[in-house]
Amino acid sequence: MTAHDPARSPEATAEWWRNAVVYQVYIRSFADGNGDGTGDIAGLRNRLDHLARLGVDAIWINPWYPSPLADGGYDVADYRAVNPMFGDTAQAEALIAEAHERGIRVLLDIVPNHHSDEHAWFREALAAGPGSPERERYLFRDGRGPDGAEPPNNWRSMFGGPAWERLPEHGTDGADRTDGQWYLHLFDVRQPDVNWEHPEVRADFEETLRFWFDRGVDGFRVDVANAMVKEPGLPDVVEGVNDAQDGGHPYLDRDGVHEVFRSWRRIGDSYDPPRVFVAEAWVPDPERLARYLRPDELHTAFSFNFLTAAWLAEDLRSHIDDAITENSAVGAPATWVLSNHDVCRHPNRLSRKPEAGRGWNLDDVLDLPADPGLGLRRARAATLLMLALPGTAYLYQGEELGLPEVEDIPVDRLDDPTWELSGHTLRGRDGCRVPLPWVAGEPWHGFSDVRPTGPGPWLPQPDVFARHAADVQAADPDSVLNLYRDALALRRAHPALGGGTLSWQPSPEGTLAFTRVSDDGDGGFTALVNVSSAPVSLPEDAEVMLTSGPLTARGEVPADTAVWLRS
Ligand code: NOJ
Repeated sequence: MTAHDPARSPEATAEWWRNAVVYQVYIRSFADGNGDGTGDIAGLRNRLDHLARLGVDAIWINPWYPSPLADGGYDVADYRAVNPMFGDTAQAEALIAEAHERGIRVLLDIVPNHHSDEHAWFREALAAGPGSPERERYLFRDGRGPDGAEPPNNWRSMFGGPAWERLPEHGTDGADRTDGQWYLHLFDVRQPDVNWEHPEVRADFEETLRFWFDRGVDGFRVDVANAMVKEPGLPDVVEGVNDAQDGGHPYLDRDGVHEVFRSWRRIGDSYDPPRVFVAEAWVPDPERLARYLRPDELHTAFSFNFLTAAWLAEDLRSHIDDAITENSAVGAPATWVLSNHDVCRHPNRLSRKPEAGRGWNLDDVLDLPADPGLGLRRARAATLLMLALPGTAYLYQGEELGLPEVEDIPVDRLDDPTWELSGHTLRGRDGCRVPLPWVAGEPWHGFSDVRPTGPGPWLPQPDVFARHAADVQAADPDSVLNLYRDALALRRAHPALGGGTLSWQPSPEGTLAFTRVSDDGDGGFTALVNVSSAPVSLPEDAEVMLTSGPLTARGEVPADTAVWLRS
């Protein structure tokens, strides 16, 4: 192993995003600086040392803009301000500076597919009436049927029900609106889709990018990057014809979206250092996904096929290969993630039968028998697998504490619009959004840095969170937190990790083994992940650097365990 030269490493350069470890901050639940039960910028600033000690290169902060929170802040009312519940722009700037002092870059979240119904433009559109320039910024249409009482097409909201809402005859503002038009909302009824054919929409989002880049933000995660552009005429989705995402679907993964991202890339590149983008695009075909990553488009995109892979060697391996192959073809790194604020936390997915990993939300797996100990063992192994792969990795807050999904939040406390829109049949995503435990034995498990004043955290924390509090985890050498710290430190120090290539090695059935070589030719690293149900031997002469769990008494790698080896 040759010495690692930090000055030459991508993290020290404009290309840092090629091999970064990025930590996702769901700000509402990260840390509460004022005792009101909701996380905020003050709380995040107080906890930056936790992130520096963890060893991450960057944070991505979920939307912190003014919002009625109909969809947890993905309903943005003003893109160039901060929700007073989280802080203000001055605090945002202080946070960015303090993160940078610690070598941590800051990514925000831009939501370009839709606005909140409280956005000034939508209010103007409601007041202005059919055919007005104000309504052109959204997708208003007359209904079908004799009285226009049927939705304009058959599109469905991603949260359930039709994707169209008819305006009531009288607005809440008392205005008369007997025009009875409908507006499109691919998500919640309070999230009207904007019209990406409209030059003002394009210009306004570009102004938002510049607003935050000028304040030192290093990049953006792009929300639903694959649904912004719609087919002109908004035709019905025809089952069996365009249910695949192959460019022919009327609103998913349309080719027109790439022009938007070329323009965004030019803006990002006009800054020094260049600003970067990561796409949230649930595009199942890895070749289609890689199109977002052509050299003049976005930098990275989550490989969600890895997140939803079954806990089976062949499934994991084929998704890893596909992402690396397709992304390499356009010169882009792969981006790995196991958990985020939209999916059931990975220990809980993996606590079920191996195929349960293919579901991504709690409702997919809730009824399957679960073994929490097994889930955590697999989760630790999955993390070592992910962090050994070439490319960028995203961690979701709390996974470094081994936090479980909270599967039994009382239904009267559920906040995710999924619960209402599914007619109280789907619990939705709140189980992974429960406020973090920082200090065991403190009120609210230390979620608040000051004496709490509110009735409790905005989502209730279960008692089991005490075991996962950051102080308890820090004190236990075998904890998940110490595994993450060790893995990130090794990943930073080992010249073969981060960027570079992966070569599969022969290994027993049901296991994965690969070596890694950096772009500069540094090797000396092997990962072995035992996804089978029986222990396997270590390769001869292997020197163990890190294991996700204890080896057997005979020095073998047990089932559901990963090891990093010096080779
Ligand atoms: C994806 C976000 O991650 C999710 O939380 C949100 O509900 C939808 N996009 C709509 O913005």
